[in-house]
Amino acid sequence: MCGIVGYIGQNDTKEVLLNGLEKLEYRGYDSAGIAMLNDNGLNLFKVKGRIAALRGYVNNTIYATMGIGHTRWATHGVPSEENAHPHQSASGRFTLVHNGVIENYQDLKKEHLSDTAFVSETDTEVIVHLIDKLYGKYENTAEAFRQVISLLKGSYAIAMIDSEDQDNLYVAKNKSPLLVGLGEGFNVVASDAMATLKVTDQYLEIYDQEIVIVNRSFVEVQRLDGTVVDRKPYTAKIDASDIEKGTYPHFMLKEIDEQPFVTRKIIKEYQNENNELKLDNDIREAMKAADRIYIIACGTSYHAGLVGKEFIEKLANIAAEVHVASEFSYNMPLLSEKPLFVFISQSGETADSRSVLVKIKEMGYPALTITNVPGSTLSREADYTLNLYAGPEIAVASTKAYTAQIAVLVILAVDTAQAKGLKLDFDPMQELAIVANAMEILTDQKEAMEELVTNYLQAARNAFFIGRSADYHVCMEGALKLKEISYIQAEGFAGGELKHGTIALIEEGTPVIALATQADVNYAIRGNVQEVIARGANAMIISMKGMEQDTDAFVLPHVHELLTPLVSVVPLQLLAYYAALHRGCDIDKPRNLAKSVTVE
Ligand code: M6R
Repeated sequence: MCGIVGYIGQNDTKEVLLNGLEKLEYRGYDSAGIAMLNDNGLNLFKVKGRIAALRGYVNNTIYATMGIGHTRWATHGVPSEENAHPHQSASGRFTLVHNGVIENYQDLKKEHLSDTAFVSETDTEVIVHLIDKLYGKYENTAEAFRQVISLLKGSYAIAMIDSEDQDNLYVAKNKSPLLVGLGEGFNVVASDAMATLKVTDQYLEIYDQEIVIVNRSFVEVQRLDGTVVDRKPYTAKIDASDIEKGTYPHFMLKEIDEQPFVTRKIIKEYQNENNELKLDNDIREAMKAADRIYIIACGTSYHAGLVGKEFIEKLANIAAEVHVASEFSYNMPLLSEKPLFVFISQSGETADSRSVLVKIKEMGYPALTITNVPGSTLSREADYTLNLYAGPEIAVASTKAYTAQIAVLVILAVDTAQAKGLKLDFDPMQELAIVANAMEILTDQKEAMEELVTNYLQAARNAFFIGRSADYHVCMEGALKLKEISYIQAEGFAGGELKHGTIALIEEGTPVIALATQADVNYAIRGNVQEVIARGANAMIISMKGMEQDTDAFVLPHVHELLTPLVSVVPLQLLAYYAALHRGCDIDKPRNLAKSVTVE
């Protein structure tokens, strides 16, 4: 994880770096730092904590025309000023920021740096000391940089300053995201275009194992062997207002509210003027050719995959499996003869998913990525991409990306069904439009959700979410939302499974939230609720119009039974939001987490 930004130009570097880091804070926020070079030398500022603290600490009188910055999510070493980036070489000449994990840093340390004094516990410090060392041999910064980069194993996005050179930033990338932004008389480097949208919308993609020399007036991309790469820039199509909170107190609330709009956008983007689905023909053929779909994802995206499996099996009549990427990577199941891998990832940068993608590509299998970031690593490296059209999701807790993933998975399954000539007994796009309206009704009922929090979750230490069939999958997502932002220990269970062990945890007042949106298990889940009430639980049922009972705490508007996850998740997102709000938690930046998980 971690976010990096670099600037070389004519303007005040400080503002570009600090603004950029504020936009990258979603990538990590336990410590931060910037280094700026001017005629008086290098100015280094590091703090434990957030960018706001760094802003307060940076000396405002310093003016510089080049610099690098970093916001950290700790991997090696605790969050502290010593472990915060930028890190400096022993001589003080080289200073760098790094996002990623250097897997062979211990070996490199032993082999080349046994006589060097380290000041941090990070893997990063090895890189900068090594550059110092190899500079002694080559007396050329670019060459020393290249030689060191060639020695690194693992993931990295690196930006480095040589204090004796005010004209170049040295940049390299492998597995961790990194872009170069192009301007008139200046250039920037960032983990994400969002960081530097204020200064440019022109970007150059950097591929793995490439080195970039970034000057004020030119950018040179090279492969590790020194050959120069000719690459055309692209225009980043991100609306700057999408990355602002506007009048909302938190990005999470804004993003929950955006779900009806995103669902309607998906309907529009995936239909032509005759209201026919318009998916890339290659995707259609790949789906048709597959004898089994392997869905690979993490966290919330994995939960969306569980819902998607149902669509693919029930609508497209293709067997599907859903796997947590970090497990699949090291414990691959027996594969079918003609598998198609579907990667679901909001960011398109999740290292666990990418590790699977790399492996299955080596095995020669086709891959489709469903992502919110079309130019992302998972998108670039897969054969096909489906876009979520959700707009940037900034809050660490994923909300609109989850419902967008489910909506796109429905469309994928329906398209495949149509291509296979299978008849559906409902109009899926019409039903998705009804879903968007239902979401709007729900997002308008925030007071009711806040009241449920007061009645059920106010003083809770733990909570259980129970459901059956599709509701079970949504319960897993509801529990993840609650624990992630409110720190209430929460689990999502299949209703029938409680009595096989977990019911032992139910005590007087334990909150149990049950979903009842599936007709054929309506009575079964209500029976499970009675079982926990009999043991003292403070239980509530969220049901769907048409199967509600008087005692239900909340009734959802009716939608097609297959699409209920798109709707039933909304109250659970809002419950998590208000539970966290009442506890005074940092909703958009929960502790220990980061939005984009680019380490395995
Ligand atoms: O970007 P991705 O969808 O690949 O991210 C996967 C998970 O890290 C992510 O969904 C995570 O679980 C969310 N923060 C949960 O709200």
